[in-house]
Amino acid sequence: MTGAGKRLVVLISGRGSNLQAIIEATRRGELPALCAVISNNPNAAGLQHARDAGIPTEVIDHRTFDGRVAFEEALQEAIDRHRPDLVALAGFMRILGPQFIEHYTGRLINIHPSLLPSFPGLNTHRRAIEAGAREHGATVHFVTHEVDGGPRIIQARVPVLPGDTPEVLAERVLREEHRIFPLAIRWFCENRLSLQDSRALLDGEIRPAQGLSPSPE
Ligand code: GRF
Repeated sequence: MTGAGKRLVVLISGRGSNLQAIIEATRRGELPALCAVISNNPNAAGLQHARDAGIPTEVIDHRTFDGRVAFEEALQEAIDRHRPDLVALAGFMRILGPQFIEHYTGRLINIHPSLLPSFPGLNTHRRAIEAGAREHGATVHFVTHEVDGGPRIIQARVPVLPGDTPEVLAERVLREEHRIFPLAIRWFCENRLSLQDSRALLDGEIRPAQGLSPSPE
């Protein structure tokens, strides 16, 4: 693949199903092997996925630091030891501060379980059902200072069906997350995706604010 030399670091806090999807894409040769998986949570189940795949892991436990800035300095140091081209937040559940975000601007992406700009924040599936949304989904975006508000790269839509519980809807969305997150990372590794002037560019075209799916492979 193009960009096989790209260096990727993934940050997680929990289950790690998106991490697992990324690992599977590396096995299929669609992505370069990961340099490291870093978690703020020592009990994150996803750490085991990384270990099973022979990927170096590290825990930077936010609870052992005196405040957010000290935590983020340690996190940044741990990440930068791997000299990453891209840092992917795959269910990383800490809000990141301005200095950290500034340091990684253009090489920090996140997956969020909603069709942004709808439902930023937490409990998106329950909120979508309660709001009577007919569609829900997931968004991969560059991380900027606005939480869940950075330039969007790709979205995937799913229907909200009668009788859906948040759990059932989350499962449907998750299947799409596992497709679009590795795809966005692959675009980045192939030098097709970048952040320029606060806009996401794919193959030289500005990504539209809406209607991001279907997308080219
Ligand atoms: C996913 O729904 C992701 O969109 C959100 O957190 C969840 C992480 O799930 N940011 P997993 O740890 O990847 O299974």
